[in-house]
Amino acid sequence: MTRSVLEHCAVRGHEQVAFFNYPEVGLKLIVGIHDTTLGPGLGGCRMRLYDSDEQALEDVMRLSEGMTYKSALAGLPLGGGKACLIADPLMSKGREALFKKVGECLNHLAGRYITAEDMGTSVADIMVVRSVSSFVVGTDPNKGGAGDPSPWTALGVFHAMRAAVERAFPTAPSLSGKRVALQGVGHVGMYLLEHLVKAGALVTVSDTQSQSLEIASQRYGAHVVTPDAIYDVPCDLFAPCAIGQTVNKDSLKRLSCRVIAGAANNQLVDKSVYATLAEKNILYCPDFAINSGGVICVSAELASGGPQNSWIESKVGEIYGTIARVLDEALKRGRYTEEVAIELAKERLAEAKRRGRR
Ligand SMILES: NC(=O)c1ccc[n+]([C@@H]2O[C@H](COP(=O)([O-])OP(=O)(O)OC[C@H]3O[C@@H](n4cnc5c(N)ncnc54)[C@H](O)[C@@H]3O)[C@@H](O)[C@H]2O)c1
Repeated sequence: MTRSVLEHCAVRGHEQVAFFNYPEVGLKLIVGIHDTTLGPGLGGCRMRLYDSDEQALEDVMRLSEGMTYKSALAGLPLGGGKACLIADPLMSKGREALFKKVGECLNHLAGRYITAEDMGTSVADIMVVRSVSSFVVGTDPNKGGAGDPSPWTALGVFHAMRAAVERAFPTAPSLSGKRVALQGVGHVGMYLLEHLVKAGALVTVSDTQSQSLEIASQRYGAHVVTPDAIYDVPCDLFAPCAIGQTVNKDSLKRLSCRVIAGAANNQLVDKSVYATLAEKNILYCPDFAINSGGVICVSAELASGGPQNSWIESKVGEIYGTIARVLDEALKRGRYTEEVAIELAKERLAEAKRRGRR
């Protein structure tokens, strides 16, 4: 069923959705601003061709809502936002003019939305936006940007894994000797692999890129399996670090893990798997609660003195306590972890509203 824009807003609670149309540069842009209680909506600008405008709108609405919860749980003074630029991500002719126009669109929103790199866009695109608008993060590290967020995302996931293992294995609460099935050794997955190996975990990896698998095997001694076989690997933790929706009805029939903790966005196909996770006694660490290292990193560019690694490290370290609280609450009250995490994020928003911090 197709929803109207205002129906979408009513269901998900968005404050604003902005549509921009400048055919002279091929720009069709949707910006979703979900909640600015804690600060301006921050989230990447995704560039892709959609099957329909409705599909693009659905993507913007879902992703911007998720950013609100991610930033609220991470304790950032930021709200949730996301932009979808409906265009071919591989386009080269006219690309600069297109991204300059994106910058002008952001200026119309006067700072209620701050953009960053996302699927289909690059640091180079972001720097073009930056040339006309200051409402941008994720900029070039040689020009004051915070640099690649992946190591911070990996560190946050590692902290979350420590908290999860302490709860799932109370008699052996360490990652040492734990078997981890790691799906995807790209930017985040490879850094996570390094942390896991240092901690004494026994890691099996899968990827679609043979070069990454070679590095994982030769440099870190990881055991390698084919992309499909990762679900059958006997393991204590499953770490999805590749694509979304890999936790679904079919994969759950095969997974034998006690914990799911990874960096990928939208790991669960939908809420229908909550019950299966509970039946299988799998402790799921909600993706938006544990993969916030990236947004923490890029948001550091907004600090008056520029990004500081010590601040990023300490903020990423807080992910351990946040996930511990989510898991403890879920275990104590027999609740689904994702529901608890959303509730906690909403509590933070409600508290900020009560204090009138707008
Ligand atoms: N980079 C960050 O800081 C960050 C922050 C938050 C969330 N995420 C999410 O984490 C995930 C990983 O991000 P990344 O930056 O490492 O991306 P990436 O593209 O560098 O790595 C993904 C890896 O997964 C592999 N892959 C693709 N399909 C696969 C499959 N079916 N089976 C196994 N491997 C497969 C790719 O070959 C690649 O090596 C993404 O879902 C991303 O949205 C990343």
